[in-house]
Amino acid sequence: MKHSSSPMEVIKRAEKVLMNTYTRTPLVLDRGQGCQVWDKEGKAYLDFTAGIAVTALGHHHPRVLETLKFQSEKIFHTSNLYHIEPQVALAELLTSHSFADKAFFCNSGTEANEGAIKLARRFGTERFGPDRTTIICMKNSFHGRTLGSLSATGQDKFQKGFGPLLPGFVFVPFDDLAALDQAWDETVCAVFLEPIQGEGGIRVPAQDYLKTVKQRCGERQALLILDEVQTGLGRTGSLFAHEQFGFTPDIMTLAKALANGLPIGALLATDEVARAFQPGAHAATFGGNHLVTAVARTVLSVILEEGFLARVQKMGDYFKGRLVALKEEFPAILEIRGLGLLLGLALDGPGKPLVQACLENGFLINCTQDTVLRFTPPLIIDREAVDALVTTLGRLFKEMGKA
Ligand SMILES: Cc1ncc(COP(=O)(O)O)c(C=O)c1O
Repeated sequence: MKHSSSPMEVIKRAEKVLMNTYTRTPLVLDRGQGCQVWDKEGKAYLDFTAGIAVTALGHHHPRVLETLKFQSEKIFHTSNLYHIEPQVALAELLTSHSFADKAFFCNSGTEANEGAIKLARRFGTERFGPDRTTIICMKNSFHGRTLGSLSATGQDKFQKGFGPLLPGFVFVPFDDLAALDQAWDETVCAVFLEPIQGEGGIRVPAQDYLKTVKQRCGERQALLILDEVQTGLGRTGSLFAHEQFGFTPDIMTLAKALANGLPIGALLATDEVARAFQPGAHAATFGGNHLVTAVARTVLSVILEEGFLARVQKMGDYFKGRLVALKEEFPAILEIRGLGLLLGLALDGPGKPLVQACLENGFLINCTQDTVLRFTPPLIIDREAVDALVTTLGRLFKEMGKA
């Protein structure tokens, strides 16, 4: 086996053996430390993607490494045929810091959402009869690529060619209560949405929208499923984004940042709802194994340390303030959106050239919906790094004639 190919060789080898599912940047990253990563040739980059909102504590975090080493030397995996102490400890930590009473662990965001769909349908049909299966979802949403989550995703481009999709999902515009009311009938078992649409272009709803959706769910005996896969675990400056909107969901899904890069997903629910799952109803072979839950517990403990979330909020406000100032200078910037360290810069044209120019200047950023630059740095990012990126963006806007 080859271990030290040049970047070009790696790219060529990839083309030969990997399915063509990603539009990858021709970059081979090799090493990371804090908010910096290095490519195979030793060039450094400041990481404003964090692996798409995953490495919240940055790369090579000492506490994560310590846990990984300790747990990997003990045991990785035994399956859920037996009890797993780190899984219990993680569930205790998650439930004691959220609305939820019960947790189920799986391996990714999409898998957590599959579990949420199943749980809501099981709850609805057991309690209200076999027709109670419809889930109201949002246009422009993103819930993942497996068929259930894909069926709940309100963007045609992800669904094209994969039909027939799962029946029983209806779509309404996000942040539109009248449309929600109109779509509702007696078959609805749940409303399923992200508190802030991430993949959909960092769209933050009006302050009372989510709270009102929850009220409607309460009045009409339906569940509110909240996908906090991208927004959860400190990303928006509170442990969960919904805390800033004054309501709690019935079911919540998490993944991404939970184990700082090891694959994990979590499904959380109130006791009443979780009771719809009985032994045999749902399972995952790898779900919540010793290694990943030990690491996730450490990650969550760090995020919960005094001052951590306040710092994310402060840094998010600072970053947003600097982007807003940039917008004043450059009319090509239409809007700055987001909360905490989940920020979007909406452009009047394609974002790809700026992503490429940032890369050449040593910054990893990302673009969603073609025109929205998305910033999801590690939550430990500092002012110096933010200043460096914003100064570079300003220079690039000038050079590209976008003033
Ligand atoms: C809100 C949301 N839900 C679900 C997913 C899917 O997560 P995964 O890629 O871990 O399956 C994503 C991924 O970007 C997401 O942003």
